[in-house]
Amino acid sequence: MKKLAVIVSTICMLAAPLLGVAANPEQDLKDFRSYFTKRFPGTPLQDFANGVYAVDKASRAQWEAFEEFPPYEIYVEKGEKLFNTPFKNGKTYASCFPKAKQGMKQNYPYYSKKRKEVVTLEMAINECRKKNGEKPLKWKKGKIAHLMAYFAYQSRGKKGNVKIVNTPDSIAWYERGKKHFYAKRGQLNMSCADCHYYNAGNKIRANILSPALGHTTHFPVFRNKWASKSSKGDGMGTLHRRYGGCNKQVRAKPFKAQSKEYRALEYFHTYMSNGIKLNGPGIRG
Ligand code: HEC
Repeated sequence: MKKLAVIVSTICMLAAPLLGVAANPEQDLKDFRSYFTKRFPGTPLQDFANGVYAVDKASRAQWEAFEEFPPYEIYVEKGEKLFNTPFKNGKTYASCFPKAKQGMKQNYPYYSKKRKEVVTLEMAINECRKKNGEKPLKWKKGKIAHLMAYFAYQSRGKKGNVKIVNTPDSIAWYERGKKHFYAKRGQLNMSCADCHYYNAGNKIRANILSPALGHTTHFPVFRNKWASKSSKGDGMGTLHRRYGGCNKQVRAKPFKAQSKEYRALEYFHTYMSNGIKLNGPGIRG
């Protein structure tokens, strides 16, 4: 009988991680980080904030040259202006975000116990607008990306500090995001992890794949591709815009920006980069 109990408990222990029973975000973070620091021993932890340029020395010089006259600078200024321009009722965004100037992006996304959901900064921006009688902004580019650029800039140098609240519902959000990251999808049947974890640093077509560690630190991002005529934008885009693009790369149908699915993914994905200093907005190809 005793033997049976031992066998049963051993099976439970082995199966628990597979079933997601023993969710342990802290351990996940340690494993995630140590996988990358071992894979790229020459890259200091903070350097992962620089995406592919942390591991692809060849393209780094060109990127550093861009950073000397960064194309996102005017959008940080536009965002600041938007932040300080009164709504029709005379209030500004500061009425919702009194601490914006000290930097607060490092605390997003967060799980709200009251609302039982993950709240992103983009969501909070549009909720602020609604509260003040203004129409919501579109989620992926334009003004919301400019405001995000301003928020990101104010948080430069602050360490990512996302909290996985210890309630079953918050953990379920975290697990959903984690599952999205590791689940294969699309006609190419590939996961985020296939490209940005197992193959980080390797080449796919003309691109070197960036490590997922540090992925979220520099958003929103200015991309040359997003500044081209065909993408009908000014170059700036949010994290969920990028998620959609990466889902499309494997010919999967992207989810909507700010859908539960992408907010859950952002919760997991951003938590994995906790402790790395924010350096947004960024420039990418
Ligand atoms: C088929 C490979 C592939 C898959 C699968 C894939 N991506 Fe990407 N992703 C790329 C490439 C290529 C780039 C551009 C080069 C780079 O920065 O890695 C990129 C860029 C990114 C970036 C921007 C990195 C930066 O430094 O700004 C993020 C964030 C990202 N991917 C997240 C994801 C997420 C989340 C998933 C899963 C939903 C995913 N990707 C799935 C290929 C992929």
